[in-house]
Amino acid sequence: MCGIVGVLGNHEAAPLLVEALKRLEYRGYDSAGIATVDAGRLDRRRAVGKLVELSDLLVHDPLSGKSGIGHTRWATHGGPTLVNAHPHRAGPVAVVHNGIIENFRELRAEMREKGYETVTQTDTETVALVTQDLMAQGLQPDEAAIAALARLKGAFALAFLFEGEDDLIVAARQGSPLAIGWGDGEMFLGSDAIALAPLTDRITYLEEGDVAVLNRGGAEIRDRNGNRVNRPVRRVLIDASRIEKGGHRHFMAKEIAEQPAVLREALDHYLQDDGIAMPQIDFTDVDRVVLVACGTAFYACQTARYWFEELARLPAECDIASEFRYREPPLSERTLAVFVSQSGETADTLAALRYCRDKARIVSVVNVAESSIARESDLALPILAGAEIGVASTKAFTCQLAVLMLMALKAAKDRGRIGDDALAGHLNDVRTLPGLVSHALTVEPAIEDAARALSQAQDVLFLGRGTMYPLAMEGALKLKEISYIHAEGYASGELKHGPIALIDGSVPVIVMAPRDRLFDKTVSNMQEVMAREGQVILITDAAGAEAAGEGTREVLQMPPVPPLLAPIVYAIAAQLLAYHTAIAKGTDVDQPRNLAKSVTVE
Ligand code: F6R
Repeated sequence: MCGIVGVLGNHEAAPLLVEALKRLEYRGYDSAGIATVDAGRLDRRRAVGKLVELSDLLVHDPLSGKSGIGHTRWATHGGPTLVNAHPHRAGPVAVVHNGIIENFRELRAEMREKGYETVTQTDTETVALVTQDLMAQGLQPDEAAIAALARLKGAFALAFLFEGEDDLIVAARQGSPLAIGWGDGEMFLGSDAIALAPLTDRITYLEEGDVAVLNRGGAEIRDRNGNRVNRPVRRVLIDASRIEKGGHRHFMAKEIAEQPAVLREALDHYLQDDGIAMPQIDFTDVDRVVLVACGTAFYACQTARYWFEELARLPAECDIASEFRYREPPLSERTLAVFVSQSGETADTLAALRYCRDKARIVSVVNVAESSIARESDLALPILAGAEIGVASTKAFTCQLAVLMLMALKAAKDRGRIGDDALAGHLNDVRTLPGLVSHALTVEPAIEDAARALSQAQDVLFLGRGTMYPLAMEGALKLKEISYIHAEGYASGELKHGPIALIDGSVPVIVMAPRDRLFDKTVSNMQEVMAREGQVILITDAAGAEAAGEGTREVLQMPPVPPLLAPIVYAIAAQLLAYHTAIAKGTDVDQPRNLAKSVTVE
């Protein structure tokens, strides 16, 4: 949440900062700002709203200078107002910040006592004030920033820029990611390497507790103990086409459409002629799997639980990361703790992972290979979905499911629950997945029609059984977050225990039910809804459509699929339904209100 960038360049910094921020806008977009130093003079421009507002402001009120820092905000402390927008300035110092300073109240009180004025509701302003105060006591700018950092508690990434210093940025990482980019006689800084892609492909990822003092000649990095350290410089190649819309109206549309291709890539990575290439995991000495994540990734975990239990007869539990970590669950060395995260930076998931350190074996299923979660795991399994920019997760979800499904199949094989032939049969099915997903995408025109009607609804229910139950919750989440329509996902059998009271003629009920062993049960629940005038949209296959009988408002037909693959294929329908409902409502699909892609605060 919040994106930060920095430039010590040989060209005007403002356009570079804005361009880099554009690539970080997925991290927050309620205000943006930049500060530059030009011939020693520190100045800043800030604007409320999306980055385009800042760009417009800079046209009328430009900012010169070849050194600068920038920020795109997702508000934590203080509303999305101009006064709360970063960079925050106190005298000779400007600061941009991602994360939370937990002890800012004490620091603010101390600064006020010393006579400094506070004008914002943010925690970040205090960092600037403490640095200003230390400079007033005679410390050099870099020393002051380092001394200020030592006083901060919390999780953050910070960058400091100083009046009178055209060749200095101080950067720090403690809990929020930060990457340094190396140019030729230029240095860059960004919350992730994507921000720096057009500027350089030579990247150093700061480690937890690192402080870097940058000038055009390079970076001096110190670790949390103040020791000088060398962090590796890696070539990080980011294919520009992966972070552009490629002719689609929205990133979300592009990312939905990419799913056959990215799933193929993920499957190719893990599938061998005779098995699953995950040699680092041996399930023979695992007696329990604990799956932990947030949001959409949590629903992927819930789906995987069915697979681990059913296929591998391996007890599996799921938890939301923010609950898991405080529940302090008992673990053993025979527990496999699996953390699922697209960004690999979600604060709660990372904290839950750290809770498991030295207590269980830690495997992560991540999209961003260089992320904190990946790096802190015993084993990181990439999902290979490519950059996901749309705030609502789509292709990462289906790729997470694909990798978790292969893990469960591996567990089944390792534990002797399925033999070579059964595994080969499952893998043959799995190889058909990209084709089935392509087929599911062809249902888009029918889904578009259904979505137009859905866009008029106040409340929508999603129902499913078995692996369709977590998908019902995922479908509801997708609809909520991008169309702002209230939606809930329920287990079909649970409906009569309360939620059925909500049903009347105005409530669309999306029933996800492939023609499988649970189909008849789900259809009974669907009948209960229709008997109360609920407007059923049934998502099923041809056999299901025939067996369901009359009374549904609409049937959206998916291809026939092996039960194992159903949640992945049916996810396409849920995603398209949410997408087209949002389009019909005219909401901001890629950047829905109040959300950010990378949730790096607790
Ligand atoms: C919903 C969505 C979020 C994320 C959640 C976890 O569309 O994207 O619910 O799934 O914030 O994020 P990651 O996977 O990055 O840990």
